[in-house]
Amino acid sequence: MTKEAVTITDHRTGESYDIDLVDGALPAIALRQIKTPDDDFGLMTYDPAFSNTASCKSTITYIDGDKGILEYRGYPIEELAEKSSFLEVVHLLLHGELPSDDELAQLAGTVGENMAVDESMKKFFDGFLEDAHPMGMLISSLACLATYYPDAKNVNDPENRLQQIHRLVSKVPTLSAYAFRRNAGLSYLDPDPTQSFAANFLRLVFADDDGSYTQNPVLERVMDVLFTLHADHEQNCSTSAMRGVGSSYSDPYSSLAAAAAALYGPLHGGANEAVLRMLNEIGDKDNIPGFIEQVKDKDSKIRLMGFGHRVYKNYDPRAKIIKKLAYEVFEVQGMNPLLDIALELERIALEDNYFVDRKLYPNVDFYSGLIYQSMGFPTPMFPVLFAIGRTSGWLSQWNECLDDKDQRIARPRQLYQGSPKRSYDK
Ligand code: CMC
Repeated sequence: MTKEAVTITDHRTGESYDIDLVDGALPAIALRQIKTPDDDFGLMTYDPAFSNTASCKSTITYIDGDKGILEYRGYPIEELAEKSSFLEVVHLLLHGELPSDDELAQLAGTVGENMAVDESMKKFFDGFLEDAHPMGMLISSLACLATYYPDAKNVNDPENRLQQIHRLVSKVPTLSAYAFRRNAGLSYLDPDPTQSFAANFLRLVFADDDGSYTQNPVLERVMDVLFTLHADHEQNCSTSAMRGVGSSYSDPYSSLAAAAAALYGPLHGGANEAVLRMLNEIGDKDNIPGFIEQVKDKDSKIRLMGFGHRVYKNYDPRAKIIKKLAYEVFEVQGMNPLLDIALELERIALEDNYFVDRKLYPNVDFYSGLIYQSMGFPTPMFPVLFAIGRTSGWLSQWNECLDDKDQRIARPRQLYQGSPKRSYDK
């Protein structure tokens, strides 16, 4: 049998080291034995942006970026989008298996009971300016929620963790809807525990002040699928933030606020918002070739938003599903005029060597904004919608991290490049 090990030769000293692999990966800490002279710190790896470093072992989400494969707990995303509900996916991510009918009914009941937030949170939202960005409001309200649940600090108790997870999965849609209603100058409604997760959210957002809202089953289902598609994506920027902050035993509300803050950036979950702005700025199909030339000019610093991915070097499987869903929404809500621009942009980019050579394909954010806009969400709400789905993934990853005996407080190393010691003489 072949030995699962590599041999590294240090050409500075001529010494060779056999290093056993761990699950097929090189354990970075083993490099520390490579020293010259004997009393130096030992060899480190240098990996800015963690392009080739596994920070954890995980059993939650599998991605094959070259083949465009995404699976939650082994189930292909295409099957989950077609056959399961978002709450089933929440249970799956959290517990590793699809729920039985009883387990699903129990989860739906728990979520229904936990969706409401304390009345005083409504005053908290009133404290924001009417044009405050809803993502800023969501991040702040998550941190604020920590003050209502001091027991959440007990992160080493798995039962307590589960209770906080249920609270958060349930309350994030309510907080998100309140952020929308603050911008719209509407009063804050209370959730209706008899409605589904997606229906409850849509009603909390779009209902009149008296609570009246007519559900459309197509939009309810599309919303639910969109939450599923965004539910988890292994060790991306925001999930790494969740795990990193959680590793210091911060409570999950504070850690989730940090994860949401990481998601907010335009290179991550804020990209769906940036795509819509880009499509509006392009304005007409005739302007696409000129725009593509600007993107290819490195000095312009303009990117084709909704394209490219650190992991996918193929079509993002979520983008394929979303593109199909878009047509279902347009059938109900009417065609989105920006679709033509998006389709033409995609066609031209996929034939252009700049994008082909760099394996840049549409990602999850390219078409999601068009759907959200057609459903009536204003552009600043787009990253908030991403956050509602991703909350289940962030919390499942956080839970896994706290149970992982290999994990300690996250603390990377650096290569110091600054001044050597000097004295304070001006
Ligand atoms: N438009 C134009 N050029 C691009 C793009 C783009 N969208 N994305 C990457 N490139 C180029 C980049 O300039 C570089 O070219 P070169 O090799 O000549 O220097 C090459 O492709 C590799 O790019 P990179 O920046 O090293 O790739 P990365 O893995 O660090 O970045 C990314 C990944 C998603 C941040 C990037 O592709 C990007 O900025 N995309 C646009 C923003 C976006 O849509 N983000 C949403 C990602 S999916 C949702 C999520 O999970 O967050």
